[in-house]
Amino acid sequence: MITSSLAEQLRNAQHVVVFTGAGVSVESGIPTFRDALTGLWERFDPAQLATSDAFRADPSLCWGWYEWRRNKVLQAQPNGAHLAIAELARYVPKLTVVTQNVDDLHERAGSRDVSHLHGSLHSPRCIDCRLAYTLPLTSEALPEGGSRIEPPRCSACDGYVRPGVVWFGEMLPEDAWSAGIAAAAECDVFLSIGTSGIVYPAAELPLRALGRGATVVHINPARFDISGQEHFLEGPASVMMQSLLREAFGDHPVS
Ligand code: APR
Repeated sequence: MITSSLAEQLRNAQHVVVFTGAGVSVESGIPTFRDALTGLWERFDPAQLATSDAFRADPSLCWGWYEWRRNKVLQAQPNGAHLAIAELARYVPKLTVVTQNVDDLHERAGSRDVSHLHGSLHSPRCIDCRLAYTLPLTSEALPEGGSRIEPPRCSACDGYVRPGVVWFGEMLPEDAWSAGIAAAAECDVFLSIGTSGIVYPAAELPLRALGRGATVVHINPARFDISGQEHFLEGPASVMMQSLLREAFGDHPVS
């Protein structure tokens, strides 16, 4: 529940961190990472497919899954949560957006300098020489159940092009991780939106902020246990974020 105290803490904050997971894109029609897979990948666990072993074992199956996901993102629009997060930047002196998501919906909603802890669907590279590969911005309509797609080849070394995401067992991008821990250490308010909080080290960030005395707020329709010092706003991200901004800044935003 959004208390007047919580609204006041957000209004007075000098630095707010917004940390997001797949739940923030659900209202844009993008399935969460742990939603059961359908179609061609129905019999797979996402955590199995999101690995370099899966890609090397069956490049077309893995690349087909990521292209299917990229296609969904290209067809999606930012939702009320992405827009409210972008709007929040107008009201607070410093806003840092750190996401686990590999879509670009925060950027398309107007958020700037978004740190992607788990990479991006839009930045594929050669699996061998790491040369960046430019994907066509429009992709042909894919069957809803997905399809196997032969990955492109690198123009420099003919290696397979792989998705620009962080697979299980791989290191997070140094710049994104450093930005995340620096912001968690400095912020007054840390909003953790739409994440199950089970994948580390990303899930460390709210704990780091809490340890430094920040106000930590979880926004999720599925309640989970939190410490007595944390806040929980139970509901979909778009509804809760818009209510939070209205409670804190009303219709007369701080200019
Ligand atoms: N608004 C807010 N949260 C929502 C909504 C919604 N409308 N709908 C679902 N959720 C919540 C779910 O309750 C769940 O807690 O979003 C969360 C999604 O959890 P996951 O599917 O585990 O996604 P995420 O937390 O982002 O996973 C973290 O795991 O495997 C890696 O790379 C993958 O980045 C991903 C990371």
